[in-house]
Amino acid sequence: MEHTSSYKLFYVTWFCLLFLSPFLVSSLLSYNYYARRCPNMIRIVRRGVWYAIQDDASIAASLLRLHFHDCFVNGCDASVLLDDTSGEKNAFPNKDSARGYEVIDHIKSELEEACPYTVSCTDILTLAAAAAVDFSGGPYWPVELGRRDGFSASEDAANKQLPSPFEPLKDIIAKFTEKGLDLKDVVVLSGAHTIGFAQCFTFKPRLFNFSGSGKPDPTLDSSLLTNLQRVCPNQADSDTKLAPLDPVTSTKFDNVYFKLLVSNAGLLQSDQALMRDDRTASMVISYSRSLSLFNNDFAESMDKLARIGVLTAPKGEIRENCRKSNRVGFAKKTGNRAATKKTLN
Ligand code: HEM
Ligand SMILES: *[C@@H]1O[C@H](CO)[C@@H](O)[C@H](O)[C@H]1NC(C)=O
Repeated sequence: MEHTSSYKLFYVTWFCLLFLSPFLVSSLLSYNYYARRCPNMIRIVRRGVWYAIQDDASIAASLLRLHFHDCFVNGCDASVLLDDTSGEKNAFPNKDSARGYEVIDHIKSELEEACPYTVSCTDILTLAAAAAVDFSGGPYWPVELGRRDGFSASEDAANKQLPSPFEPLKDIIAKFTEKGLDLKDVVVLSGAHTIGFAQCFTFKPRLFNFSGSGKPDPTLDSSLLTNLQRVCPNQADSDTKLAPLDPVTSTKFDNVYFKLLVSNAGLLQSDQALMRDDRTASMVISYSRSLSLFNNDFAESMDKLARIGVLTAPKGEIRENCRKSNRVGFAKKTGNRAATKKTLN
């Protein structure tokens, strides 16, 4: 009798472990990962982000986007930070657009001084994005750490997997689903566009030739249209001029982005599209009405984003320089196999 029930327990336990195994990766991360390894890690990262924002408030948005682009391609592995010529930096969504690399480099150099070879670049970027939101007036959430850096980056994967402002909502949703994120994540994470800027070419067709009609997007709020046409005149040399994604409070992390969508004043076509699907529109309306709902849900979805395809020891490496893998050049420089092996730890 007793025998049978312990067998049962055995099978139930194994069944549960098997079933839960895809989620176990998250349990390898922890809030106090660096508590012994590098006690000042969190303080150093937050201080670096703080000073960067004092110097240039627009950098907060750039750091947040950089983290999104890291996690969405190859998982959160700092692939976006690699300088490889065929890497993600050169992909369309990043080239002449993604910024904030110097901030991460600077924080990394301080960390190398405090605790050499200890803190991964992707953990720095994850924590920097959260700090950027916090310091911009958005929600604070604790970040689990212990990610390791990947060895390579793919321009091709970045081009295919990052969302484009010109593609239909259903395609954007599919890209998020592919990463294990759901419809709510799409809507609430789009709320990141409450801070930051976009270049004119990312929304220009809406101003002058919407869907090849030769006319502006008829749904775009008319006073916003007039303003945008002034910032982005209908000629190629205005393509790289900048407009705020949320012109009301462009450096404040709040829910104005959703209020703008409700009044047809979203900047990107892909932003405004959230109002054209009943399922997403109802969420946009809820977030426009409740800042605390948005803050809570945003923190929750950022936590999900920060767990995509994470590498934990013994996978990956702790890069010495966020711009290149330890494997690159090191073996060649020293001609020493033992040295190469050392870098793989
Ligand atoms: C849903 C699909 C998304 C699309 C189509 C999209 C597209 C874009 C585009 C076109 C820009 C302007 C880039 C430029 O002009 O160079 C931009 C900026 C930005 N995006 Fe997104 N994005 C999406 C989702 C997200 C998510 C999930 C986040 C973060 C959680 C995010 C954060 C940002 C931020 C903060 C900026 C401003 C960057 C800066 O000022 O440097 N975006 N996005
Ligand atoms: C608008 O776009 C369409 C298709 O992309 C193009 O054929 C047309 O010439 C454009 N019209 C203007 C006024 O630029």
